[in-house]
Amino acid sequence: MAKYAILTSGGDSPGMNCAIRAFTRSMLYQGHKVVGIKRGYSGLLNKDFVNLTASSVGNIIQRGGTILQSSRCLKFHEKKFRKAAAQKLEEEKIKGLCVIGGDGSFKGAYALYNDFKVPVVGIPGTIDNDISGTEYTIGHDTAVQTAVEAVDKIRDTAFSHDRVFLIEVMGRNSSSLALKVGICTGAENVIVPGNEIPYQEIGDKIKKGEERGKKGSILIVAEGGKEGRSYNIQKELQDRFNIQSKVCILGHIQRGGSPSAMDRLIATEMGVLASQSLSHFKEPMVTTYTAGEVGLTSFPQCLTGRSENIEAQIELTRILSI
Ligand code: F6P
Repeated sequence: MAKYAILTSGGDSPGMNCAIRAFTRSMLYQGHKVVGIKRGYSGLLNKDFVNLTASSVGNIIQRGGTILQSSRCLKFHEKKFRKAAAQKLEEEKIKGLCVIGGDGSFKGAYALYNDFKVPVVGIPGTIDNDISGTEYTIGHDTAVQTAVEAVDKIRDTAFSHDRVFLIEVMGRNSSSLALKVGICTGAENVIVPGNEIPYQEIGDKIKKGEERGKKGSILIVAEGGKEGRSYNIQKELQDRFNIQSKVCILGHIQRGGSPSAMDRLIATEMGVLASQSLSHFKEPMVTTYTAGEVGLTSFPQCLTGRSENIEAQIELTRILSI
């Protein structure tokens, strides 16, 4: 019998609890013990540990957030703190660590292995779906659904008042959330990060829509790593085309809520696979979801930044918003 630990790090996402439950129960099933580390790497440095049992991870499969809580721990960028973390794990005779989080959290886990040979496994958990090496990260589907429901509500009032709305969604520098939300809500435009904003095209489309009697327009804006960029776009539309608009930043509502069935399923499969990878440790691995299957890949594969092929989806929004 050995002892393993699990933590959640970075921005929380719906489905993290499903992964904690699956990892814990699968370890217990194999005859091992599991320690939960509170508040990510900060809790590891403070030795904020809690024993996880079959019942302590009961009744959490449907809960959003993370029962272990999370944090963004800047100290973990420094080797001296990673050394302290490795020592804490050793003091507690913890044989390996499972990290649920995004690529920043994975960098910390991989460094812990490279510098101090701590066996680690990663489970991708972020609403942004921005990790390379996997087509899916836990929480993304629920976040898309939450945003879609919010946009549907805003469309009701946009229609009633003939208004243009700029609705900003999360995702850091990823376009994944914005494009899916745009397609699923029939948005007139989706503004993705990185590219120059095609103001003329946007202005023309809104005016054309008005001419054919369109009641209200929805523009989905990807935050692009700069929360509030919608206000600049609002000003440009006003200055260039005299188009008045309202801004709605959906914000952290997208991170909460009960995980969708898809998130529960993938998180559960990843949790079990992560526990098996760690208990039969050969090298650090990350669980992935590719072509409909849960699998494993190496850490470096997940640390290159996801390059998305967004052209097809942008074209789809163009076709459908004539
Ligand atoms: O990475 C998840 C995410 O929700 C991003 O989409 C967003 O930019 C960021 O976290 C917000 O972080 P915080 O909750 O620390 O403000």
